[in-house]
Amino acid sequence: MAESLEFDLTLYPSPVLRKVASPIEAFDDEVKGIVAGMFERMYESSGVGLAAPQVGLKLRILVYNETGDPEQKDKEVVLINPVITSRTGDTTHYDEGCLSFPGIYAEIARPDACTVEAQDADGQPVKLELSGFESRIVQHEHDHLEGILLVDRMSAGDKLRNKGALEELVERYKAEKG
Ligand code: NI
Repeated sequence: MAESLEFDLTLYPSPVLRKVASPIEAFDDEVKGIVAGMFERMYESSGVGLAAPQVGLKLRILVYNETGDPEQKDKEVVLINPVITSRTGDTTHYDEGCLSFPGIYAEIARPDACTVEAQDADGQPVKLELSGFESRIVQHEHDHLEGILLVDRMSAGDKLRNKGALEELVERYKAEKG
């Protein structure tokens, strides 16, 4: 059993959130430790999904549990090097949040269904055909691996509504950077 790593959340506008993440090539204990640490961070932050850049790692790893319940281990999904091979269905709107944007929500439009091909933590191929909430989580987390953020997908109205909160995050980042 790989040792779980401890992570802090990386918040907007940290530059790592804007990088295109790099593929995982070796499915070793380090990757398993990252995955375990990401789940812990996600649950502790009351999230349902997390991408590696959100813990400061420029790696193509995402994890999710649509229930957000750490007791429901059977709902945990690990997608490494995920590729969304199709996006289909009606466009749906949903009030999305993001652990890198605490307190900020915005109605984001996405296609209802998607197919994702990836590898699991052991490097075994995974193919999932998703719709509804799971599909939305995967599309949101996959955006993170491309450096695309909630703020890029929100409407002008939502951007205006969240202007103060966004500015606060920028100020906090600057203050912490010194
Ligand atoms: Ni997010």
